[in-house]
Parts: sequence; C-alpha cells; structure tokens
Amino acid sequence: MADLAYVNGSFIKMNDATVSIKDRGLLFGDGVYEVAGVFEGVLIDNNAHLERLKRSLQEINLKLPVDFDELVELQKKLIQLNNVKEGTFYLHVTRGVSDSRDFEFPKEQRPSLVMFVQHKKIMDLAMDKLRAKVLTYPDLRWKRRDIKSIALLAQVLAKEIAHQAGCDEVWMHEDGFVTEGGSSNAFIIKDQKLISRKNNETILSGITRQAVLKLIELEDLVFEERPFTIEEAYGASEAFYTSASVFVMPVISIDKKIIGNGEPGSLTLKLRNLYENFAKSFINQSQR
Ligand code: PDD
Repeated sequence: MADLAYVNGSFIKMNDATVSIKDRGLLFGDGVYEVAGVFEGVLIDNNAHLERLKRSLQEINLKLPVDFDELVELQKKLIQLNNVKEGTFYLHVTRGVSDSRDFEFPKEQRPSLVMFVQHKKIMDLAMDKLRAKVLTYPDLRWKRRDIKSIALLAQVLAKEIAHQAGCDEVWMHEDGFVTEGGSSNAFIIKDQKLISRKNNETILSGITRQAVLKLIELEDLVFEERPFTIEEAYGASEAFYTSASVFVMPVISIDKKIIGNGEPGSLTLKLRNLYENFAKSFINQSQR
C-alpha cells in the first residue's frame, strides 16, 4: 500500500490513519465505495466511477462530505503525494459517527470519506498472469447488488472458498444462473456471441463491463444480454471477467472444467488489448 491515506480532510500516514469505533461503516456496513485503476498517475474512467458513486449515495440517502470537483482534486493530490504510477484507488463514504448504536439514521448526519491508493501492476501483464481459474458458489447476497455497498461479507466468504480451492475468482449463481464474480462481472463467448447478464438489481453495473460493451461494437461480436447457466459456461468457447483492477481477465477453467482449449481465448485477449488501449487514452485526456 502507498504511504498516505486521506481521512476526512487530512492526509495521514497509512499506519496512523484511523476511524472511530462509532463509525456506522464499521458498525453496520452503512456506506458505499468505489475502486478505480490508476495508470501513469491518472485515474482510469474516473467520471464513470464517480457517476456510479453518485448513484450509490443517492440510493442510500447519503451525501458526499465534499463536492464532486473537490473530490477529484483530492483524488489527484493523493495519487501525487504517494507517487503512484500504476495501481488501484479505493474510496468509501460511510454515514459517519453517531452517538449511539441505533439502526435508524442519526438526526444530524456527518458522512465520513476515506481514500487510499495501492501500488499494483495492472497494465501489460505477462501471459502467465492471464489464466484465471473460477469456482462457482451460491450467491448469498442481499437483493440490491446494484448499490456498491461496503457490506461485502458474502463476497469475502465466497472468494475465500474459491481461494482455498486454488481458484482466482468465484462466480456466484442463483436459480441456476450465474449472477457475477465475487468482485467482477462474468462473461462467456459462444458461437461468436458475447453473453452476459443484464444490468439490474441482481448485479453491480461494472464500469469496465460498460466500457468493454462499447468496445465490442468495433469487433465482429454480437452481444446477447441474458443470464447464462453454469452448464452453459462449462461449454463456452471462451470465458472472462471484468473489473477496474483486473480489466479483462481470461478464464481457463470453471470448477476444474477446462474452458475452450484451456488457454486464454483469442477474442478475450483482443478485448483485453482494446480495453488496455482505452485505459491508456485517459493519460492524454488528463494532459489537455
Ligand atoms: N469490485 N461486480 C462486483 C460484485 C464488484 O465488486 C465489482 C468491482 C465489479 C466490477 O465493477 P468495475 O468494473 O466497476 O470494477 C462487478 C471492485 C474492483 C472491488 O471491490 O475491489
């Protein structure tokens, strides 16, 4: 992790940064978050992430403690102070501290904003890092998965089970259909068709997913927006998942069943390449 974090108006050394035990984020998971990639010190697709943050905040009746222009300046400053060239940017807003542990909103809300950055290689990864194994597991989450809530226990448990099984990601399922990854959106390719579940309250509307769907318009791929079953995923010619921290990640096996020929799919790699170029385009935009 990088050295300095931002906590409610101050840049503080990561190890000294603390929040109150009365913070409703800690007590109730009462808050929302965002994660964006950073490349060459520039946030990737930040406007889209901030739009989603705005929506998440609205859905839980919470206000950002600074205005959005100010937030963007604070984000830039945090990246600069930590000299992060490549990595991930995390921010969350919680309903802050209240005097007693009451479930209802406090009369006077004092939302809390916390941000930090992590150094991580996310661009131009070696081929041996692009071979993800997936485990399927029941989706045990609440019914408003469109809100990017900090309450992530179901994903923590599911991802840990996948990790213990030697897998890199979990694909959660409900009523026989895959919903999404533990921290990503799930896709399969079959007969030149890209298949992924429709955006609604059953999944998070991924910012990377949104960008990839625009990029496929340039390719000879048809998008079928519909849920797919686990069985269908086993028989796919290619599979991948998307997120701000892994971009487009090729899947080589699901529940130990080999996908395609067991190598990253060629269309998937093409989409990853297109996405990397898209991500790099923000460097030039920020210099304008
Ligand atoms: N997770 N679905 C879920 C449940 C997620 O947690 C995420 C992102 C995504 C992909 O969204 P995006 O493309 O906007 O990153 C889908 C982040 C990376 C995380 O929690 O670390």
